[in-house]
Amino acid sequence: MISMMDFNYVHSDKSALPFISYSNFYANPFYLRTLSKLVGVDAAPLASAKILELGCASGGNIVPFALKFPDSHTIGIDISSELITKGNELKLSLELTNIDLICCDILEVDSSFGKFDYIIVHDVFSRVSDEIRNKIFSICKENLNENGLAYISYNALPGWNNLSTVRDFALFHSKHFNELPEKINQIKLLFEFVNGSLNESDSAYAKLMFETSEMLESKPDLSIAHDFLQPFNKAFYFVDFIEDATKYGLQYLVDAEISKMYLPNYTSIIKDKLGSIEDVVRVEQYLDFITNRAFRQSILCQEHQMINRTLSMDALSNFYFKMNLIATSDIEIPFDENRESTFYLNNNPEDRLTTKNIMLKAIFKTLSENRKYLSFDDLISFSVDKIPGINLSDLEAQAKVSLMDLFLKDKLEVRADLIPTNTKDSNFPKASEYAVAQSIYLKQEFVTNLYFESVQLSLFEFYLIRYMDGINTKDDVISKMIEHFTNGDLVTNYKGTVVTSEEKLRNIISLAYIDALEKFQDQSLLV
Ligand SMILES: C[S@@+](CC[C@H](N)C(=O)[O-])C[C@H]1O[C@@H](n2cnc3c(N)ncnc32)[C@H](O)[C@@H]1O
Repeated sequence: MISMMDFNYVHSDKSALPFISYSNFYANPFYLRTLSKLVGVDAAPLASAKILELGCASGGNIVPFALKFPDSHTIGIDISSELITKGNELKLSLELTNIDLICCDILEVDSSFGKFDYIIVHDVFSRVSDEIRNKIFSICKENLNENGLAYISYNALPGWNNLSTVRDFALFHSKHFNELPEKINQIKLLFEFVNGSLNESDSAYAKLMFETSEMLESKPDLSIAHDFLQPFNKAFYFVDFIEDATKYGLQYLVDAEISKMYLPNYTSIIKDKLGSIEDVVRVEQYLDFITNRAFRQSILCQEHQMINRTLSMDALSNFYFKMNLIATSDIEIPFDENRESTFYLNNNPEDRLTTKNIMLKAIFKTLSENRKYLSFDDLISFSVDKIPGINLSDLEAQAKVSLMDLFLKDKLEVRADLIPTNTKDSNFPKASEYAVAQSIYLKQEFVTNLYFESVQLSLFEFYLIRYMDGINTKDDVISKMIEHFTNGDLVTNYKGTVVTSEEKLRNIISLAYIDALEKFQDQSLLV
């Protein structure tokens, strides 16, 4: 099979990437509900959920949710009329009636907006005034249902201290320039220059500057502008944030990045010392100091909610699981408990799981064969078939312990709800409608999959996905892709020469199509 890497695709229109508003998986009700269920809070079902996003930009986070759950209702507000207009154009093209994108100030939100099951405030809290921050807490209290969840992300101390120096430096330099594109370009040049100047230094400061330059390379221009050029940018100690939330009658539920709360993920000294402290907020603040954490995504709920942070193993039997595992060639059948077997995680030989335990081998093998979400019952029934004579309850007990551990180590995807997907054998492949819209209307090469995760597409895939509408056959799609090569949107070279013959292009595209379809399937982009 010829892989995509053998060809060099060139995009003809780099300017066609007008604005950025992506889905943030951690801030999505879909994931928030999973987290709440793990800690004993029964957040509202997604199908009929009511959602409010404050500072929603053009709706990249909430439009895909509204599309997937037609009986839910979402309101997104943002002060930028330009972003709201773009969001409303997309809403219109997707014919959505269950989402309102409104241009208004957070300060204008009141009881007339109603009550919500999920309130999302992503990447806004640190960028606004104290008055608006207080209003955000007040909305999260007053407009949140009894079992509602509020997600707020913010820059955290002490980690932000370093970045704040970098930001001051960027602000200082960029004020000598007038236009936004020039300011952004100057920030990039500034860090290249500083990097060069500190080339021979191994100080902590030089390391910070190197890391900043590296980070800037991968950041889109708009997010450089947001991070470095906006007037407000304040960071908070976690304890202070929670203390303020508590004054408004809110309670800390859990961190969106749950693995960061899990003490066994730290050294044994940390685990032993902090393990005896019962106050979760205090423990997490110690962890922030130790890890120099710079960003937080806190989930809050009403103050009287009962929370059980002792994650229940039994609760796991109601969830769905997925892990990007690849079994290496040393997996023996039947399993031999005297031999080690290895599985690679996320196609990365550096990130591996090795075990002699035959029950774990069976569970890992099952996960590696099913690169989609499996219910607990399916995982067990597929695994039990691989170990003749095994005791079912032993296997279930082992699965619960291991699945919980892998989830808390950030190696296993766990979801409370399932979104069904097809198999890749379909003759009429159909991609997620929102991902198609992202390609056609938004010209985004990062698209949102069915689980609200962002997936980066190659330029070939960026054009391909728009033709996967469930009506086109593979041949139709390939013919349409040929046009992109003949009109210059895409170019492929073979042995240093641009391929122009239709027959050769057809062969090349057919092979690349197979790879792309496999990726779309693996990444939950097909419906
Ligand atoms: C960094 S962007 C984050 C956008 C979006 N939440 C996301 O994560 O992609 C911050 C957004 O907050 C909006 N915003 C800032 N102050 C606001 C206010 N007082 N009322 C409403 N929106 C505001 C900005 O217009 C901007 O779209």
